[in-house]
Amino acid sequence: MKIGIHDIAAATGSLVLDLAEIATNTGTDLAKFHRGIGQFEMSINTVDEDIVTMAARAAKPILDRHGSDNIRTILFATESGVDQSKSAGVFLHGLLGLPGNCRVVELKEACYSATAALQFAVAMVARKPEEKVLVIASDIARYELDSSGEPTQGGGAVAMLVSADPALFEIEPATGLWTSDVMDFWRPNDRSTAVVDGHYSMQVYLDSVGKAWSDFQQAGGNSFDEIDYFCYHQPFTRMAVKAHRRLTEICEVEDVDASVATLEPTMIYNRRLGNSYTASVFFALLSLLDNSENLAGKRVGLFSYGSGAVAEFFTGIIPEGYEKHLRVAHHAEMLDQRTNIDYADYRARHAAYDELTGSYETERQTNGDYRFAGVVDHKRQYRNAE
Ligand code: HMG
Repeated sequence: MKIGIHDIAAATGSLVLDLAEIATNTGTDLAKFHRGIGQFEMSINTVDEDIVTMAARAAKPILDRHGSDNIRTILFATESGVDQSKSAGVFLHGLLGLPGNCRVVELKEACYSATAALQFAVAMVARKPEEKVLVIASDIARYELDSSGEPTQGGGAVAMLVSADPALFEIEPATGLWTSDVMDFWRPNDRSTAVVDGHYSMQVYLDSVGKAWSDFQQAGGNSFDEIDYFCYHQPFTRMAVKAHRRLTEICEVEDVDASVATLEPTMIYNRRLGNSYTASVFFALLSLLDNSENLAGKRVGLFSYGSGAVAEFFTGIIPEGYEKHLRVAHHAEMLDQRTNIDYADYRARHAAYDELTGSYETERQTNGDYRFAGVVDHKRQYRNAE
């Protein structure tokens, strides 16, 4: 039985900061951002947006198209949770008015957990093929102001409907795994920004490409030549290029530059979003689907990495007729309809984030259908935006 991604849709914050704003105001050469890390813009959330409202915006078109009747499980993957106990998925379930006969949980392991959610969903559908699972990856990447990670901030959500006979991506059984207990990037409970050992994190990421690939080969996975496209977790898009170069070395690929060039369509969205943590590798897949042609029958490899660290390499096949199910214009609007903000506004918003404590109402700012309206008696309030 074929199982995989039947539908996929994405959302991001309503605001955008051009990295030229950071370059000009900090005296940084813009080429460091454009060429050095491969980033151009970062998505920013308004005060009344968070991972739940982005998830709702991403999931809505999928529910409009397929209904919610057979969705009995929602897996919400995030590392920017809004509560220590209650799953962000349950807030989402309420906001979207989904039926009560559903199990809902949140999963966490840095940028990796949405891949675990996807694999769990595949296993659940294998057990009950008439059911569908809604997998959500939603995150907001925040580093300290003036830190080296600052230009790699961003955010977004990808919603995926997992089912039998999928229209978009048939996930193959072989998978390569790697876990190692390291401190390359983490966010203690008392912090709203991540702590990172940037260059070390890149080394761990690159090492885990080799480890996950080697496990993938031992698990009977396809050879390098049998994979047409590679989508990597993209904390910044140059990381994907570095990772692919590492893989081409391991696999002794002759024309490395030609192989690296095939990554281009996978980086179009992430360049403009910044890091979206758990959602990033799925934005890479979505970017490939939306921005390439003639993908039917092609095999795509996905490398998922979450600091701390867990990595997985797996593959899928794009079925015939997939194009009819895409939302290319919707995703172009998602990026183009963000409002540009300047450096001063960005810094003020970043600093104001930690001041929101106790009970408060948020100003109406989002351009999306759902809003986070504030906190009353320690309870988060979510509303339709109309
Ligand atoms: P940095 O130290 O400020 O930058 O921050 P740099 O000096 O290393 O320069 C970056 C690149 O720009 C270099 O290219 C420079 O040569 C180049 P490279 O040598 O690496 O090819 N450069 C220029 N190019 C053109 N013109 C110029 C110029 N100047 C420099 N004028 C760093 C870089 C990645 C460390 C920082 O952004 C950071 O700390 N980021 C956050 C951590 C991160 O993204 N790590 C990636 C791997 S870990 C991961 O992916 C997991 C994560 O998503 C979290 C999770 O799992 O939840 C982060």
